[in-house]
Amino acid sequence: MAILNLGSINADMVYAMPHLPAPGETLAAGGLQKFLGGKGANMSVAATRGGSEVKHIGAVGADGVWAVERLADYGVDVEHVARLDTPTGHAIIAVDRDGENLIILYPGANRELTMAQLDRAFAQAAPGDILVLQNETNLQAEAAERGNAKGLRVCYAAAPFDAAAVQAVLPHLDFLILNEVEAEQLRQATGKTPADLGVRDVIITLGAKGARHIDGASGAVLDVPALPVTAVDTTGAGDTFTGYVLSALDRGLSMADAMAEAARAGALMVTRRGTADVIPTRQEVADAQF
Ligand code: RIB
Repeated sequence: MAILNLGSINADMVYAMPHLPAPGETLAAGGLQKFLGGKGANMSVAATRGGSEVKHIGAVGADGVWAVERLADYGVDVEHVARLDTPTGHAIIAVDRDGENLIILYPGANRELTMAQLDRAFAQAAPGDILVLQNETNLQAEAAERGNAKGLRVCYAAAPFDAAAVQAVLPHLDFLILNEVEAEQLRQATGKTPADLGVRDVIITLGAKGARHIDGASGAVLDVPALPVTAVDTTGAGDTFTGYVLSALDRGLSMADAMAEAARAGALMVTRRGTADVIPTRQEVADAQF
């Protein structure tokens, strides 16, 4: 089966900072590197490196040709990535010495996808394919509704978190991935616990504590521990986890095995500086010693 990803494509400008700047503070960076990024592009690369066939639905401007070429070089199908007049999205990412980050997003072309683009991509999709969405493009609810109607397994990674955006896609979801803080924000917005959302699979990522799967039908809980690593840059680790989980499920692994593989990929990712370009391959994930 294939994975369709309606997702952002960004130029990530990553600044190495002595600490994350405070309001009103001017602070010099110790270094600057440019990577391919965007939560969408990161997930596409992760799922491709996990071994899946991934079709990316997205958009860039004239300044983003390099990003599309790089996605294609990494094995992602870019037939449904539009070239628009709007500039490509970018992210200004400050990373401190502990690997924590702060991200400013310029959405650019990521928010200018069209229904015609979606329709063309969905025309090639088959029941059982996975559709993944995040909150850095437009048309998530429309895509979720169409994906659901077409028998795709619809997954939403609720980042950057917005309770209203989650609620717009919720009726169409088979799978929801969010972190602990976001789960609590969603509970406050909906009055429902993750088990009561009516979503078949919910994963709550717990950072250094690992990740939890909640079976929406039975309420059964599965905890997968995190692996012990020293983080140098946490940027894109969540995207790597999501891409690997979906790829592993696409390859037929159980949820427990998929989460275990994704935990290894995420752990390896935080030991590297950068985003899509440095996402580990399945061989690297298998070989890693923790
Ligand atoms: O999750 C990390 C990503 O968030 C970065 O690649 C950046 O582009 C933003 O989308």
